[in-house]
Amino acid sequence: MKGIILAGGSATRLYPLSKSISKQIMPVYDKPMIYYPLSALILAGIREILIISTPRDLPMFRELLGTGETLGMRFDYIVQEKPNGLAQAFVLGERFIGDRPACLILGDNIFYGQGFSGILAKAKDVKDNACIFGYSVKDPRAYGVVEFDESGKVLSIEEKPETPRSTYAVPGLYFYDNSVVARAKALKPSVRGEYEITDLNRTYWQEGKLKVEIFGRGFAWLDTGNSDSLLEASNFVATIQKRQGFYVSCIEEIAWRKGWIDDAQLEKAGKALDKTDYGKYILSLIA
Ligand code: G1P
Repeated sequence: MKGIILAGGSATRLYPLSKSISKQIMPVYDKPMIYYPLSALILAGIREILIISTPRDLPMFRELLGTGETLGMRFDYIVQEKPNGLAQAFVLGERFIGDRPACLILGDNIFYGQGFSGILAKAKDVKDNACIFGYSVKDPRAYGVVEFDESGKVLSIEEKPETPRSTYAVPGLYFYDNSVVARAKALKPSVRGEYEITDLNRTYWQEGKLKVEIFGRGFAWLDTGNSDSLLEASNFVATIQKRQGFYVSCIEEIAWRKGWIDDAQLEKAGKALDKTDYGKYILSLIA
C-alpha cells in the first residue's frame, strides 16, 4: 500500500502564525506537526509515502524529511499548485500509486490511543472498497459527517452540513483500493470549487463499498485548526510524554520497532539530535 500526506492549504484560521510558513511544519509541543500523521502511516506499515504541499512549502518538507532513507522508507514529493481539494491528491499521485491501494492522511490530523495499530491493520485490508473512520465530536459541523446504522451500514455522508445527521465526524485518514485514482479523476468540483474527499467517499458508498470504523471514547483525534486547538494538542502530547516517559509519534522509534532500521541507524539518528530530550529519548531506547 502507498501512503499520501497532504500538507497544503493556506491555513487562514491560524493567521498571522501561518502567513509565511506551512501550518503542518509548526510545532505540536516538541515536533513538527507532520510527524504525527507520518507516524500514523509508519504504524500502518506503509513505507512509501508521497508528500504533497504548495509550491512555497514543499521545499521545507523536503529539507525536514529528506529521502526517507534514515527511516528505512522512501519519500516522494509533489506540488499541488492550487488548493483544489483533498481528492486531487489521487490525481496528482497517480504515477506514485501505480497499481497499489492507497492511504491518505491529512498533514494536520493527530491520532493517539491504545489499539491504534490494530485498527490500522484492519482498515488497511481494503479489497475493492474504501475504509474511513467515524469519531464522535460535540460539534461536527466543521467536518465530513457520516451517519450509520447499528450494523455499521452507512446511511449518509455529507461535507460540513449545517444540520448534521449524526455526531460522527470523519477524520482525515482514508484507505482506498486502486480504483480511487479513476474515481478521483471523474469527480466534479463542488460549489466551493474543490474536489471534495466526501464526494469521493460517496462514490464508494453508492456502490455499497464504504466501510466505517469507529474510534471510541478512549481515543484522541485532535484538531489543529486554530490557535486554541494547536495549544491544546501541544499540551496533550506534553502531558502524555511527561507522565509516561514514552514519546508520542517519535518516527525514528516506530521505524525501529517495525524493524525498518537497526540499532546502529537508530543510534545515529539519536546522536544527531542529542542536545534535545527527543534525541536523548531515542538513545535511551537502545540502552
Ligand atoms: C477536511 C475534509 C473533511 C474532514 C476534515 C478532517 O476538511 O473535507 O471531510 O472531516 O478534513 O480534518 P478541512 O479541515 O480541510 O476543511
